[in-house]
Amino acid sequence: MITGIKGFNDILPVEVGVWQHIETTARRVFSRYGFSEIRIPILEKTELFARSIGDATDIVEKEMYSFVDKGENQVTMRPEGTASVMRAYIEHKLYALDSMAKLYYMGPMFRYERPQKGRYRQFHQIGAEVTGVNDPKIDAQVLTMLCHFFAELGLTEPRLQINSLGCPECRPRYREALKAFLKERLDRLCEDCQRRYETNPLRALDCKSAHCAEATADAPAMIDYLCAGCAEHFAATRGYLEQVGTEYSINSRMVRGLDYYTRTTFELVTGLLGAQSAVAAGGRYDGLIADLGGPAIPGIGFAMGVERVALLLKEREFVVSPDIYIAAMGEEAQSEAFRLMCALQRLGLAVEMDYDGKSLKSQMRRSDKLKARFTLIIGGDELAKRSAMLKAMESGHQEEVNLVPAAIALIVAR
Ligand code: HAM
Repeated sequence: MITGIKGFNDILPVEVGVWQHIETTARRVFSRYGFSEIRIPILEKTELFARSIGDATDIVEKEMYSFVDKGENQVTMRPEGTASVMRAYIEHKLYALDSMAKLYYMGPMFRYERPQKGRYRQFHQIGAEVTGVNDPKIDAQVLTMLCHFFAELGLTEPRLQINSLGCPECRPRYREALKAFLKERLDRLCEDCQRRYETNPLRALDCKSAHCAEATADAPAMIDYLCAGCAEHFAATRGYLEQVGTEYSINSRMVRGLDYYTRTTFELVTGLLGAQSAVAAGGRYDGLIADLGGPAIPGIGFAMGVERVALLLKEREFVVSPDIYIAAMGEEAQSEAFRLMCALQRLGLAVEMDYDGKSLKSQMRRSDKLKARFTLIIGGDELAKRSAMLKAMESGHQEEVNLVPAAIALIVAR
């Protein structure tokens, strides 16, 4: 037997209803906020991710699916969507029409991580990006849309946490202060944090190791080092969130695992998924478009992990049950059942029947198992009268109906 690859999952028919519900809800909510879909390729030049996500990040250092293709090109299966969307935005000069673009995307991403519940090597993101707006109203708007999406799904988890990572003016000052703090405690940090002390010291703040959490408990916070512009932006973002009633808390230890972030960063976190607490995450990236060779246009966005959202929802609610299950006895009745099923399906009803000539009892059991709303029983006697017995499964109420598709559809729609 050939099995699938570790960390690469099939999404089976019983799960797919939840996925479609998540995708449809995202499309509906995002379009209300003026977002259009963009579809980006899975394969990009490796250089795109190295330059945007950053050479010293876990993703670029050890998690990318990179290879040399037959034309000797160094390529990578996208580990995230923001870099590709911005590459497309620059390449197709979307800013020439209007520097403000509101784009969303959905699809598979690839990271060579250690698979566990909620963490996979092929996973799926739904993301959204806005370019061209410095005003903090857009930060509040993007966050409000994301919370609105979760509310529309009926989820009270996850909860929004925000932070500011400053800008190239104030972050170096904070980095130095943090390095001075960590220097005194280097021997208490894990091996990974010791190694990235020079290249990426901020990661010590969100390291999963209990030793690092303890050693950095009273580390200086970026929000205390913000320059006047960043402090004002953060305060205004908070003010707008409060104005529209979007609940949040501040997490001054949130550093994010990608280098392109500036100013507002955020995560939607839950305690329900064990170690994989971030269901969605994102932030501002005011320097990214220029770093990728485009004009100096700011950006902000987020991506959610669809597997994690699906885990938060109860799968069974989304299994589509038939409106009618047709149970037929005898060859003639089976053939009538088939004709009727096709006619009812054309009328827009979800209809199932038995194809194997099973006993009435086992057909009734299948109708129960599929949670059909009605069972239509066609037997020899009824067939002679061109009628059948329609049973409402929940109440048990039965009535004789004519074998006329439109008449049956009317009763079911009542
Ligand atoms: P990220 O934090 O790397 O950000 O990923 C966003 C979300 O993708 C995470 O919160 C998580 O739900 C999901 N995710 C990440 N890795 C995995 C995995 N191995 N298995 C399952 N789910 C996973 C980004 O990717 C940024 N591009 C977000 C962004 C958009 N920032 C600005 N715009």
